[in-house]
Amino acid sequence: MKRKPILVTGGAGFIGSHLIRLLVKSYPEYQIFNLDNLTYAGNLENLSDIQGEANYTFIKGDITDDVFINKLFEQYKFESVIHLAAESHVDRSIEDPLAFVKTNILGTLNLLNAFKFLWKEGFNNKLFYHISTDEVYGSLGDVGLFTEETSYDPNSPYSASKASSDHFVRAFGETYGIPYVISNCSNNYGPNQFPEKLIPLFINNIINEKPLPVYGDGNYTRDWLYVIDHARAIDLVFHNAKRGETYNIGGFNEWKNIKLVELLCDIMDKKLNRTSGSSQKLITFVKDRPGHDYRYAIDASKIKEELGWTPSVNFEQGLEKTVDWYLSNKEWLDNVTSGEYREYYKKQYH
Ligand code: NAD
Ligand code: TYD
Repeated sequence: MKRKPILVTGGAGFIGSHLIRLLVKSYPEYQIFNLDNLTYAGNLENLSDIQGEANYTFIKGDITDDVFINKLFEQYKFESVIHLAAESHVDRSIEDPLAFVKTNILGTLNLLNAFKFLWKEGFNNKLFYHISTDEVYGSLGDVGLFTEETSYDPNSPYSASKASSDHFVRAFGETYGIPYVISNCSNNYGPNQFPEKLIPLFINNIINEKPLPVYGDGNYTRDWLYVIDHARAIDLVFHNAKRGETYNIGGFNEWKNIKLVELLCDIMDKKLNRTSGSSQKLITFVKDRPGHDYRYAIDASKIKEELGWTPSVNFEQGLEKTVDWYLSNKEWLDNVTSGEYREYYKKQYH
């Protein structure tokens, strides 16, 4: 059987690995190519259960290398691209903005150029799908929601680089007729997330009885979505969305950081058989993140109404599943928190 070749970039990372598993299992008629250069955030252990599947191929490579990318498109003739590879952590973008420009902007441009060149005779049934973030919209006050019409107003080097890559995808649609879709999702959580982001970092610190560094006064608000619900949404958008459209994806699930951390502490105390209230004692308010966005909240009614998507997991269930996963995958956690992670942690928190 000749399978339809589909390129997923960043598939060894957090969201990408859940998406790859879903696509490989659901669509035997696709050949899923996972292109990832395995940065600190990429980990093939995330996909060990599907690595032998016939419709899955891993390719190690860097999206910033245009010569390599052009050859790869020529060789495999990818009919669609789902582009997730990115530098994804705001705090790292504050330390090293150029790394974000290279991967998130130049890398996206290389993929767009290669896709445009490969299908120069016609884009029939082809699709370039860019996975983006709600952070491109900037920060909300106490009320209101981001809709697909909200103007871009990014505040961090990370969100500025993602906004720029979104603009390039749209520009390639308008200028060269590339069929594209973009989705902008809120904060994800779940198994396999690198423990630099709030939830896995705090789970790891609670396990090790280390301080929980809450930035500022802890009243910042995020809208949390279970990663598998994001992967389900990407599947729906990929197959059913109108070309040239944008979809916001969110959990209808806003939490102030401090409230979320308190809930997480309570769940962890129970799971670890510790005295109630002991993990909350680890909470430490630390210096705020520069340019910290106050609140993100998504109006996800378009994807709900047009594509019938809603989250399948509520927050308490999702958080509990996440905690269970980290507690039963201590080896994964130990492996990713050795080496580079220690240096990063020292620099960021001491
Ligand atoms: P992640 O950091 O866990 O994974 C990123 C992956 O990209 C890693 O496997 C890494 O090795 C790979 N990568 C990085 N640079 C590369 C390069 N130059 N060439 C090839 N591969 C490279 O990120 P994530 O949290 O899974 O996010 C995936 C995508 O979803 C990103 O585009 C991010 O902006 C977007 N997003 C993330 C969230 C979230 O809450 N995590 C929310 C909305 C959107
Ligand atoms: P994070 O997981 O880095 O996602 P993002 O910045 O992309 O929203 O952070 C989520 C929230 O948690 C954000 O308001 C910053 C805050 N935060 C802390 O208070 N302490 C931490 O150590 C980290 C990593 C984040």
